[in-house]
Amino acid sequence: MAQETGNAPVRVDLGERSYDIWAAPGCLNQIGEIVLHIVNPTRAVVVTGTGAVERYGRLAADRLDEAGIPTELLRLRSGERYKTLRAVERLYHGMLRSGLDRKSVVVAVGGGVVGDVAGFAAGTYMRGISFVQAPTTLLAQADAGVGGKTGVNLPEGKNLVGVFHQPRAVLMDTETLATLSARDYLSGMAEIVKHAFIRDADFLDWLRWNADRLDPARRDAAALAQAVRRSCEIKAAVVVADETEAGIRAVLNFGHTVGHALESLGSYRRLTHGEAVAIGMVAACRIGEELGITPSNVTMTVRETLRSIGLPTALPPGMEPEAVARHMMADKKATSGRPRFVLLQELGQPVYGVEADAAAVLRALERSRE
Ligand SMILES: NC(=O)c1ccc[n+]([C@@H]2O[C@H](COP(=O)([O-])OP(=O)(O)OC[C@H]3O[C@@H](n4cnc5c(N)ncnc54)[C@H](O)[C@@H]3O)[C@@H](O)[C@H]2O)c1
Repeated sequence: MAQETGNAPVRVDLGERSYDIWAAPGCLNQIGEIVLHIVNPTRAVVVTGTGAVERYGRLAADRLDEAGIPTELLRLRSGERYKTLRAVERLYHGMLRSGLDRKSVVVAVGGGVVGDVAGFAAGTYMRGISFVQAPTTLLAQADAGVGGKTGVNLPEGKNLVGVFHQPRAVLMDTETLATLSARDYLSGMAEIVKHAFIRDADFLDWLRWNADRLDPARRDAAALAQAVRRSCEIKAAVVVADETEAGIRAVLNFGHTVGHALESLGSYRRLTHGEAVAIGMVAACRIGEELGITPSNVTMTVRETLRSIGLPTALPPGMEPEAVARHMMADKKATSGRPRFVLLQELGQPVYGVEADAAAVLRALERSRE
């Protein structure tokens, strides 16, 4: 990693749909000028959540108003269980009431749920209008805020309905992370180290050297901006190479095949997404060991890094390897009922689409009990 990546925005180069990501402490204050300059909309709706995040939604709405953009604030109930078509429908009605037309903009200020729901509403309202994102959780800054995936859950499963709808601009204000719960903060850290594991061993070293500044108790906004920016650069490079996940974008799912199964087994309440992915990354390394792909020292580094951050690396008590394996079969990314894995050949060198026989997976999961 270039240790100092500067304050220049990260460019996501997708031709006509290219956009910039700003990651800096306090950058939410610039949202009025940025939206005016890039979108120049007739009106705006800021979509935010309920609770602590609402203040950032109000701040963004005030800044947009000050920039001369007529703006209304719409709130979504916070929580994964409100990531539904019903929530999208309520947004459509709010957007119509506010007079949004085809030249208006939807601005999402909140975590991944707000971003996914508001992005889906923007991508489908009047066949798609402009969308700007200001993610306020570490998970959304490191991951969900980049790449244009939007959508909602169905009772049958997560993210089963959605569209690719790239934002026009993304603002990641790392000062907003100060109010995040320690658990949500660590959940985002899992995605940041995931990007280091799959793409950049130097970034991993940088994260270790800066562990004190990134500690949940300290949350140094400048160090966070650097970590978020590098994370976005890594994700953006992968997205640019494969926008709609026909191939290489799959590497971003490192740890997710097992992780999704764990989240689902815990009814999406027992583990956060990041916790499940952390356990999943170690399990994937062990599957890689079983298949002769991942060297054991890589597994050790992955496990020790996650543990030192404070993330779990073992299956929670009561989650049995057989049950985890069964849930993996139901993963929507499993082709013809066989789960596929992203495995590490070395730090920074993933392989994707790897099928593993059931016995190897079970052995690896057995070893993941501790
Ligand atoms: N689109 C993508 O590419 C992508 C990628 C990864 C995850 N996701 C989705 O993201 C969602 C998870 O996102 P998340 O972890 O941000 O969860 P979340 O959106 O539910 O946010 C977690 C909690 O933090 C609160 N919150 C948000 N910002 C805050 C702040 N600054 N201070 C205090 N509280 C704050 C929220 O109101 C919520 O209660 C999942 O639905 C997942 O499917 C999408």
